[in-house]
Amino acid sequence: MDITQKHIAIAGGSSGIGFAIAALALERGARVTILGRSEAKLADARQRLGGGVATIPMDLGDAASAAAGFQALGAFDYFVSTAADLTYSPLASMPRDAIERMLAGKFWGPVHLVQFGLPQLQPGGSILLFSGLAADRPAPGTAMVSALNAGVEGLVRALAVELAPVRVNAISPGVVDTEGWAFMDEASRSAFFASLASSLPARRIGSPADLADAALFALTNPYLTGEVLHVNGGGSLG
Ligand SMILES: NC(=O)c1ccc[n+]([C@@H]2O[C@H](COP(=O)([O-])OP(=O)(O)OC[C@H]3O[C@@H](n4cnc5c(N)ncnc54)[C@H](OP(=O)(O)O)[C@@H]3O)[C@@H](O)[C@H]2O)c1
Repeated sequence: MDITQKHIAIAGGSSGIGFAIAALALERGARVTILGRSEAKLADARQRLGGGVATIPMDLGDAASAAAGFQALGAFDYFVSTAADLTYSPLASMPRDAIERMLAGKFWGPVHLVQFGLPQLQPGGSILLFSGLAADRPAPGTAMVSALNAGVEGLVRALAVELAPVRVNAISPGVVDTEGWAFMDEASRSAFFASLASSLPARRIGSPADLADAALFALTNPYLTGEVLHVNGGGSLG
């Protein structure tokens, strides 16, 4: 689909998958705005994207910040949220502030998008959220991540009905090589990626570009709604 006249807003566009979606949308001629909490990360992303992108500092999980951010954003055709600040550790000992940061991006973020952003979504537009493989295949230390991802998937099905004809979808990635894994040291991360890649049917882990390609499909396909696209190298299998 031609997206040259479209405005795509990406919460989380300063990093990882969101950044790759911004880069691909710009390459295809769309107008792109990226949103995130850190002004420094937004400025760095803007530079890496060649400057042709608008940036708005916004904490999507904070009601006042989200309301102001949507006002600054104005009208948009497509909204993607990759916003997430996740901690992988057993729930029994997880600090409260880590739980709050997780809820901010993946629970309150979509709620604020609907409550503050909806009036600015143009006819024919769509919303794309991100869940993740942990919703289906949890491991120890992923209870909160799993719960939030499953919540995102339930939410897109319900919103597709509640907000119709606005289309609402989710992408559930498997492991993708992004800054989101920076909490691991380089050697452990490489070993983890290599071991996982050898066990996946696709024999590789994901790149942000793999997910960007799927995201533009999900945003623009007029017959897709209430769906969760599993882009995980076959990670749901076996
Ligand atoms: N990478 C993977 O292996 C993987 C696997 C399964 C699912 N996923 C899902 O895919 C999505 C993208 O993952 P990723 O690895 O690309 O993430 P990432 O590189 O860690 O980037 C996350 C982005 O979200 C922004 N952000 C975090 N909290 C925010 C908030 N409250 N308000 C606004 N922006 C916020 C961050 O910027 P600031 O810090 O500046 O706010 C950053 O730009 C996430 O939903 C993640 O759960 C990823």
